[in-house]
Amino acid sequence: PSDTGRVLSIQSHTVQGYVGNKSAVFPLQLLGYDVAPINSVQFSNHTGYPTFKGQVLNGEQLWELIEGLEANDLLFYTHLLTGYIGSVSFLNTILEVINKLRSVNPNLTYVCDPVMGDEGKLYVPEELVHVYREKVVPLASMLTPNQFEAEKLTGLRINSEEDGREACAILHAAGPSKVVITSITIGGLLLLIGSHQKEKGQKPEQFKILIDKIPAYFTGTGDLMTALLLGWSNKYPDSLDKAAELAVSTLQALLRRTLDDYKRAGYDPTSSSLEIRLIQSQDDIRNPNVELKAERY
Ligand code: ATP
Ligand code: PLP
Ligand code: MG
Ligand code: NA
Ligand code: MG
Repeated sequence: PSDTGRVLSIQSHTVQGYVGNKSAVFPLQLLGYDVAPINSVQFSNHTGYPTFKGQVLNGEQLWELIEGLEANDLLFYTHLLTGYIGSVSFLNTILEVINKLRSVNPNLTYVCDPVMGDEGKLYVPEELVHVYREKVVPLASMLTPNQFEAEKLTGLRINSEEDGREACAILHAAGPSKVVITSITIGGLLLLIGSHQKEKGQKPEQFKILIDKIPAYFTGTGDLMTALLLGWSNKYPDSLDKAAELAVSTLQALLRRTLDDYKRAGYDPTSSSLEIRLIQSQDDIRNPNVELKAERY
């Protein structure tokens, strides 16, 4: 249990707007973490716009940065955080980074958001699924898939809360002691299912949070959610339910503010994906007001 930590965060960077590291670094800093960002891409804006320009870091270039840090004895991190990864070669280099960081700190917590797709659609090459499933998931301490990603990683179809809980159990058996299915739609409701297996082989403690679905589409929220789960679950290592309540509460306040701001400016919030009001929500990041409570199963 610790109030702080050193987080290596390997995620996208966008010049304009908040996805990837742009949506993870600021909140982690506000929660008191030293964050070392490696930008896996640098794009003008997120890929939901009509066009985008920019550069992609490849596996060798990632490794070069790790070698530079190593040469100066700068590879001590308490946490590794990864999000969207676009190629098998980059993901394979991530595997080497995990091993390297764990050789320096055997207690490294690896928080993996296995970003592969959403709402039935894969947006990474199909071959990545296999690498996540066979090689990455076994090394993760905490995993934050959405419903579709949990299905891809387990082979289950998730049509009920029971299915979601079973998917978590399957994922625990594969490696991570903490699993949060960050968004799952069942019967028109949006919910989060969390699962903490405190001892290998034991029955996990599981809970759900019912979320009021806002009728708009946001980007960067998955990345923000995983960053907040890292931040709060490190502060409350035995209460994943509490960590999730805090993270969800921040998200809900921020999304309501985002929606209100767009409406006030005269935009139709259902017309395109909205950029989150991250900086304006700093009080809700530091001191979330918990309105949505976790229900233990
Ligand atoms: P991944 O990063 O793996 O794709 P994801 O698909 O779960 O994760 P989001 O769909 O962005 O990511 O959801 C993450 C969190 O953001 C949810 O748990 C919820 O708290 C919040 N959220 C996102 N969209 C909405 C919405 N329309 N209404 C209410 N909450 C939302
Ligand atoms: N990274 C990049 C470069 C993106 O363009 C996007 C979404 O468009 C994301 C990440 C995904 O963000 P999230 O899943 O948090 O909504
Ligand atoms: Mg989603
Ligand atoms: Na997720
Ligand atoms: Mg997402």
